[in-house]
Amino acid sequence: MKNLKIGFIGSGFIAQFLAKAMIQVRNCEISAIYKRSHAPKLAEYARQNGLGDPFLCDSVKEVCNLSDAVMILSPNFTRVEIMEKIADSVQEGAELTGVACEKPLGRTVVEAKRMVELSVKAGLKTAYFENQLHMNLINNALEQLRPQQSAMGQFFLARSTEEHAGPHSSWFWDPVRQGGGVLSDMGCHSIAACRHILTPEGKDPGFLQPVAVQADTGLLKWGQPQYREQLKKKFGVDYAKTPAEDFSTGIISFKNPETGQIVKGQFTDSWMYDKQGLRVAMDGLGPGYAMEINTLISPLEIFIGDEAAEGAADAETALEKSTATRGLLAVHPNEADLYGYTGEILDMVNAFANNKHAMLDFQYGLEITRLVQAAYMAAEKGTVLDLTDKNIQNELENYQSLISLGKGADILYK
Ligand SMILES: NC(=O)c1ccc[n+]([C@@H]2O[C@H](COP(=O)([O-])OP(=O)(O)OC[C@H]3O[C@@H](n4cnc5c(N)ncnc54)[C@H](O)[C@@H]3O)[C@@H](O)[C@H]2O)c1
Repeated sequence: MKNLKIGFIGSGFIAQFLAKAMIQVRNCEISAIYKRSHAPKLAEYARQNGLGDPFLCDSVKEVCNLSDAVMILSPNFTRVEIMEKIADSVQEGAELTGVACEKPLGRTVVEAKRMVELSVKAGLKTAYFENQLHMNLINNALEQLRPQQSAMGQFFLARSTEEHAGPHSSWFWDPVRQGGGVLSDMGCHSIAACRHILTPEGKDPGFLQPVAVQADTGLLKWGQPQYREQLKKKFGVDYAKTPAEDFSTGIISFKNPETGQIVKGQFTDSWMYDKQGLRVAMDGLGPGYAMEINTLISPLEIFIGDEAAEGAADAETALEKSTATRGLLAVHPNEADLYGYTGEILDMVNAFANNKHAMLDFQYGLEITRLVQAAYMAAEKGTVLDLTDKNIQNELENYQSLISLGKGADILYK
């Protein structure tokens, strides 16, 4: 099998993480990188690690012309514009097989639908990058529990959380450019993970029908005056005027279309989790069996006392979004694999090499965008939304949350 040549559009945080994952996957190389910010550093990393000799390109079109597949790894507000350029490049002769896009597929349902439409028009296979559904921790637990499920019945409750102390780039904190706050940023992971855990064996990722959603959004830490000042200084955003939520929680009810059984997914996401670093935690509860995951528990711990702390200034080498450089620290030897990036790349490479969509395609990404937007709408209305109601479904198609319109102060400071 010849290598799949992958073009990177975006060379920041996630691009670097995915390059680490690519090292663990055969039959792929980085052929081109869109020349912005960290592109030279990423190219150097690729050369040093046998991932090819990427060409630094001045345009999206050039990246497409040098690749079999391209990955959209740039900020949320650039999605549609970049996808339009990719579709144009294909029309002008670029021989691309597929396109992958990081979560969320769109800041609104309108944007996510446009992404699907452009990919279809260009005849491209798609991969929606939702790494958590590729986490071995989840999938190994599910595999272990399949016999119990077939004897006892399905999971009836899944809980999924992703929490850390706040994002690293200023655009994430701007609700207009990002599409909201933590619900838009990480709620998409937790909602998808709940649905995945609840989905019966052998069924498609979109098998369970969402029938109702309730949610809450809050600004628990970063709306306090001293933390607003920190945000202004560090990221240039003014949370007195245009805040985003730093906490969100909710419940989505899903119906099994074959049995009529209702199961529930409960999600919680926050940017005010002041512990060692990123924690992804999940559990699944079924009749007589259960699973539980907590990524902050590692078999590897290190201790750095006060005297030795000066030597460990670069905390994030130990754990994503680390907040401390001393004390007892959890360390993960292979985070790219732990969070599912390796599995996600492997799935995409295999799918595109066989001219197929990845396990999660853009259509799936659109459905997750709908659920995230439904959660914002439920929080704004303060009601349980009936997702089977045609009026609600229609309203969602053109809905844009108040927070993403820059009007979050009206609801988050109430
Ligand atoms: N799956 C995950 O767990 C995960 C984690 C982090 C980020 N993400 C997603 O990945 C995407 C990128 O996030 P990040 O953390 O890498 O951000 P980042 O700010 O670290 O990097 C963004 C990159 O995009 C480039 N860029 C900026 N504007 C651009 C434009 N107009 N055209 C092309 N490139 C442009 C920047 O130069 C930079 O290389 C986001 O959509 C985010 O939601 C996913």
